[in-house]
Amino acid sequence: MSRLVIVSNRVPPRERTSLAGGLVIALREAIAGRDTLWFGWSGATSATPGKEPHLHRAGRLTLATLDLTTEDYAGYYRGFSNGMLWPLLHHRVGLSEFSRADLIAYRRVNRAFAAGLAPLLRPDDTIWVQDYHLFPLGAALREAGVRGRIGFFLHVPFPPRALWEALPDGDALVRDIGTYDVLGVQTDEDARHLNEVLSVNGQVPRARVFPIGIDPEAFATAARKAVAGTEVQRLCQSLGERALIVGIDRLDYSKGLPQRFRGFAQLLRRYPEHHNRVTFLQIAPVSRGDVAQYRSLRRELDELVGRINSEHAEFDWTPLRYLTRAVRREVLAGFCRVARVGLVTPLRDGMNLVAKEYVAAQDPEDPGALVLSRFAGAANEMDGAIVINPHDPDATAEALHMALTIAADERRARWGRMWRAVNHYTAAGWARSFLAALEASPASRAA
Ligand code: G6P
Repeated sequence: MSRLVIVSNRVPPRERTSLAGGLVIALREAIAGRDTLWFGWSGATSATPGKEPHLHRAGRLTLATLDLTTEDYAGYYRGFSNGMLWPLLHHRVGLSEFSRADLIAYRRVNRAFAAGLAPLLRPDDTIWVQDYHLFPLGAALREAGVRGRIGFFLHVPFPPRALWEALPDGDALVRDIGTYDVLGVQTDEDARHLNEVLSVNGQVPRARVFPIGIDPEAFATAARKAVAGTEVQRLCQSLGERALIVGIDRLDYSKGLPQRFRGFAQLLRRYPEHHNRVTFLQIAPVSRGDVAQYRSLRRELDELVGRINSEHAEFDWTPLRYLTRAVRREVLAGFCRVARVGLVTPLRDGMNLVAKEYVAAQDPEDPGALVLSRFAGAANEMDGAIVINPHDPDATAEALHMALTIAADERRARWGRMWRAVNHYTAAGWARSFLAALEASPASRAA
């Protein structure tokens, strides 16, 4: 088996921590059985970063990382990737901020990645590039003389052509995207959008759908174990007899948090019977806190939470508990298990693995209900979810009321369908099918 080379902006932490992100988990099985080189940003900035990567070996996995200059961090990561591409890809052109200097830094970092990686490569490596930070990397590697197969997976949505065209020099980026041997996206809609943009730019419309998933058994086991842990016990004691609604998201405007909070407030207004009978716990670790749009979202949420609580609280009940710090995955699994309702309402999301994790965490005998945005990739698979339009707080309120009151039989039936879906598209299956497609792609393209 050839060596696997993963390239992503973030690489797994050197020390295995329980905070390990989704990608590490998704790729765990793929990298377990073979030599793997994982290349990316070190997470550090430095005034004079070396051109050669830092290498760190752990068994069959080698991490190779580069530092960024402060200027490149600002232009490539904060500016172009997260101030321009992220909102655009999530259909939020109005939030995008373009700067020519950022685009130049983005291309410069992609070239530096290619230059740092190329000397480490062997001719038969299978190279798999991840996500929007690295659209131009494949083309830069080809320029650096790399001949092996190179695949790309986009974890986030791809917008319709009319929105994509708002991006200055978008055509050049599409030509870069068109050079990958296999192009993976999360949903049929994303494939349609990307393929249209490729076609009008004279590229082969080769985007294909590979829906990402989780390791359901592992998450279910973690959830079962966590219930006995201190944090979950403390949570349950603090709730008393009240039902728990849980939301878990990075603090990101794509997640629809203001709309979600208004939906919860609407539930309390329209259905007074839930007053003091339900608690909504939203965990939203701060993310990209130095990007302007994220800072203003945080201010908006601080104000909204204060208003909702001051309007509805009792002296012994805070309806909305809102945490902006990170909580360990194991503990989150336990919180999901004890929650009557999982509330996942992004305005746009590539897949949304929290939806799948919520399902995996449930007790099959007494599962909770999932309220899910139709704009999460996961909505295509989760036929047992209560699906809503997250822009409408009244719809969220209705869905919450339904989720809090549906009979146990129906909850079990809905959960059974979702559990089957979660087991159909797993993390391991995702990586296996993408790599099979990449390894089967015609070598002539690579030659
Ligand atoms: C999304 C993106 C990932 C990114 C993650 C965390 O899931 O698809 O590429 O790594 O958010 O964001 P951050 O900016 O902290 O890497």
